[in-house]
Amino acid sequence: MNNTMRVTVGTGYPVIVASEIWRELPAAMHAIGLRGRVHIIADTQMRATAQELAHSFGEVTSLLLIPGGESSKDMTTLTHIYDHLLAHRVERRDTVVALGGGVIGDVAGYAAATILRGVALVQMPTTLLAMVDSAVGGKTGINHAMGKNMIGAFHQPRLVYADVSLLKTLPPRELAAGWAEAIKHGVIRDTRLFDDLEQADPGSAYFDPQLVRRAVAVKVDVVNIDVHEQAERMLLNYGHTIGHAIEHVLGYGVLLHGEAIAIGMHLEARLAVALELCDPVVVTRQQAMLERYGLPTTLPNQITPEQLLEVMHRDKKVLAGQIRWALPHAIGHAEITRDVPIAVVREVISSS
Ligand SMILES: NC(=O)c1ccc[n+]([C@@H]2O[C@H](COP(=O)([O-])OP(=O)(O)OC[C@H]3O[C@@H](n4cnc5c(N)ncnc54)[C@H](O)[C@@H]3O)[C@@H](O)[C@H]2O)c1
Repeated sequence: MNNTMRVTVGTGYPVIVASEIWRELPAAMHAIGLRGRVHIIADTQMRATAQELAHSFGEVTSLLLIPGGESSKDMTTLTHIYDHLLAHRVERRDTVVALGGGVIGDVAGYAAATILRGVALVQMPTTLLAMVDSAVGGKTGINHAMGKNMIGAFHQPRLVYADVSLLKTLPPRELAAGWAEAIKHGVIRDTRLFDDLEQADPGSAYFDPQLVRRAVAVKVDVVNIDVHEQAERMLLNYGHTIGHAIEHVLGYGVLLHGEAIAIGMHLEARLAVALELCDPVVVTRQQAMLERYGLPTTLPNQITPEQLLEVMHRDKKVLAGQIRWALPHAIGHAEITRDVPIAVVREVISSS
């Protein structure tokens, strides 16, 4: 596997995952024909990197720093980005570079999707979660008081440029949250990724571009098969049906998204065992792995099964009253299942 993968949706775009490449972004953008002015929208945590990059682009850049964290995925921040871009006389041929975690990628991505009816976007993810998940696939958006990601658009980037050396400043809890998605990718689609993660040292694995690339490759493959989340992309929701419900009941921000997903994966794997879809060893191996990477697997005790069940039935993955579950059949293989009796779900959640 060389360091470049390709999303084939629309005109397609490269997804580059490597180490110590961030200074070469201007050359990489030039190579794919992005020649207009560049507007870097960066996480405040990435200030030094953003300033150096802006400097290397020269006079053709503007730079706006915004704080990471979920509260920035709102209308106020979006307006702030629009104001900045318009004040810098953004043109149709310009490019927005989103330098940050999933929050910056989503909000700056949505600004790029909508300003002047859409300008080019480069995703430069700086969290593990953004690398293995949110930077690839073209989903952009912001939250609304009525719910997360309620306003958004599909806007495929022209380039995803991930430098794992930028992860060295990421707090351990944020790293673990990113591993949850990487482990999920192993469980749903890539036995070897799962095996490699089992062998790797969680303290340094994020520095291994090959391992991170393998985790990103699962997202790239799934997006290539199914860009609009009809069937294949639903597999990425493994752990999310229960995980989202946990986040909703607890209130956003109590657990990190990846932590809620880890608990969701554990319960959903147990659900697959209860339905006799998979061997209990899947649960044991996955639980050992999640815990090794610093992730929780037990439901916070202030949550009741009934609260979770109620929220799950309101979730957007419900079709004609039935929840579509992505459930593992083995390590490396998951499928969508609709016929899951609510009594079995209740039993699994209650006995956790
Ligand atoms: N678009 C999609 O397909 C998709 C998929 C999954 C998740 N998401 C979204 O992604 C968001 C979560 O992303 P996230 O976990 O990256 O959160 P985030 O962007 O808030 O980043 C987490 C924290 O890390 C900080 N940070 C970022 N890079 C850093 C670095 N290199 N060093 C030190 N600190 C750094 C940020 O300032 C923030 O405090 C959610 O809003 C979620 O909805 C989107």
